[in-house]
Amino acid sequence: MNDKSPVSLTGYFTGQVWCENAYSEPEMGSVLGKSLYYIHRPVGWLNERLFGNNLETMLIQRHKLIDALTLEAIEQNPTLQILEIASGLSSRAQRILKQADDAGLNIRYVEADLPQMVNWKQARLGKLRFSHPEHSVEPINILRESGPLSLNAILDSHFDRNKPILVITEGLVNYFELSTIENFWRSLRGALATFKHGEYIFEIWPKLPVYQEQLTYHWGVSLIEMFTRQRVPLHYTSDESVAQGLKECGFSTVNVLNPNEVSQQYGLPKMQGECLFRVTRAIV
Ligand SMILES: C[S@@+](CC[C@H](N)C(=O)[O-])C[C@H]1O[C@@H](n2cnc3c(N)ncnc32)[C@H](O)[C@@H]1O
Repeated sequence: MNDKSPVSLTGYFTGQVWCENAYSEPEMGSVLGKSLYYIHRPVGWLNERLFGNNLETMLIQRHKLIDALTLEAIEQNPTLQILEIASGLSSRAQRILKQADDAGLNIRYVEADLPQMVNWKQARLGKLRFSHPEHSVEPINILRESGPLSLNAILDSHFDRNKPILVITEGLVNYFELSTIENFWRSLRGALATFKHGEYIFEIWPKLPVYQEQLTYHWGVSLIEMFTRQRVPLHYTSDESVAQGLKECGFSTVNVLNPNEVSQQYGLPKMQGECLFRVTRAIV
């Protein structure tokens, strides 16, 4: 099995979106990310004029909402340990650790991604002189069921099973076929059940009816598929079916949020058009 993926390219793009919107220091940007960002902008602008939504706003909604739910999870479990899988070039770890430190909490935050992305990020964090005793960036491949790059290897070596744990994925789920991601969720659920408390926060893009009504949304997905040179399957067809899918993988409580509907509560940007993704919190 290869521990590289063309999906990592999309991490440079989202990494740049975070920089451009002051969620990350410029050091987390890249020439590739910047090129992709400026190529995508006119398309986003046109889509907003025609259909009332644009990718950048959706990405900001997703990033902000996952931050907010993470902080809520910390409030509920002040000794929480966090594993963010496929963290790419996101600076969430730094933001959350800063807020936890300011609140006098001792939170462990491990970021994980494919080895190449980990090397790149470690170099960038080095440039930023960021280091924190409870933070590290580790290699993982969610497709590996055993060995040093597996989920269990990271959980065994970096986390305390007597404490609660939160796993986050952002921008990962829809790069895999449903059967593959459900297999991962079943293993994840099994692993989380060995902790004092376990939960999982992630974003997912379901196959909503709007894809049948407006062809441009289809083309949007095809563009991402062309760029990543792989299929980007949409999973489930409604909020209810997302919740049902997670329950069938063993999670007991599943809360599926439509960012447009909770924009006021969490201070998210709101779009005129339909929000195409959901943020989900699933508890073991
Ligand atoms: C769209 S990016 C999202 C990055 C980050 N979460 C963000 O929102 O900016 C997808 C990330 O998934 C990672 N990835 C792809 N396949 C993976 C796998 N099999 N295991 C772990 N990470 C993977 C890529 O390296 C990349 O960093």
